[in-house]
Amino acid sequence: MTASLAPEAAATPRQARTRHYVMCRPEHFEVSYSINPWMDPAKPTDPALALAQWEDLRDLYVSLGHDVRTIEPAAGLPDMVFAANGALVVDGKVLVSRFRHPERQAEADHWAAWFRDRGYQDVVQAAFTSEGEGDYVTTDRAILAGNGFRSDPYSQAEARALFNRPVISLKLIDPRFYHLDTALAALGDDEIVYYPGAFDAESRQVLRGLFPNAVIADEEDALLFGLNLVSDGLNAILPEPATGLAAKLRTHGYRTHHIDLSELLKSGGSVKCCTLELRH
Ligand code: ARG
Repeated sequence: MTASLAPEAAATPRQARTRHYVMCRPEHFEVSYSINPWMDPAKPTDPALALAQWEDLRDLYVSLGHDVRTIEPAAGLPDMVFAANGALVVDGKVLVSRFRHPERQAEADHWAAWFRDRGYQDVVQAAFTSEGEGDYVTTDRAILAGNGFRSDPYSQAEARALFNRPVISLKLIDPRFYHLDTALAALGDDEIVYYPGAFDAESRQVLRGLFPNAVIADEEDALLFGLNLVSDGLNAILPEPATGLAAKLRTHGYRTHHIDLSELLKSGGSVKCCTLELRH
């Protein structure tokens, strides 16, 4: 007799792949300037809570079997906790970011040194504004590249040349979703989830054509930073409040894990922003 399938098991079976992540402890985290609509320096942050929440995320990755490395946080760089912005690493090659806002520009040298000190051979400093995995989402089919607010479209040509992979340009049009990773995430090597309202009509058409089976998120979950998720192919880790999106992902066969990053959200970042993946 066939047992009835739980919704979780109804879709294609998913498989986790062990990942290598770099994170940066929010030791110097605060909101002392505003470079995106979420940041309000008048709103207080709780440093101890920010640290505890970040540790929960790191511990969750470790408990799922992933390798988590860290970069030393630097004083005076409160947004360095958003490790995703430091670089894009594909096939062991590194495109080190060039940050748009002066407040973050000094982070780039810390990242370049981190990779050089660990023996990475191809470490290229971006010549144009490029905010790492904040604006680049890597799938098997292509590297998806966001622009409109932060990364310069010219940096996409640099990425194409360095990684020798197709790079697909996507235009972001809503300032609340100022980085690609606030509006779109990779779930598996070739499956994505996104919120169409964050993109211009042409980009939406490109996404529909490339990923006809993508999971579509609604505005409510997008505004809760639900798309700023990290998936290992099976486990999707997303901000606690995005319950609608979590339910949707479960029907697509993913296991969902919830993390409360309310403090970092005050700077306009969540799970994915804290996580830079090293793809070797
Ligand atoms: N306050 C940071 C900024 O505006 C947040 C960065 C979030 N990171 C990300 N990958 N979306 O630059």
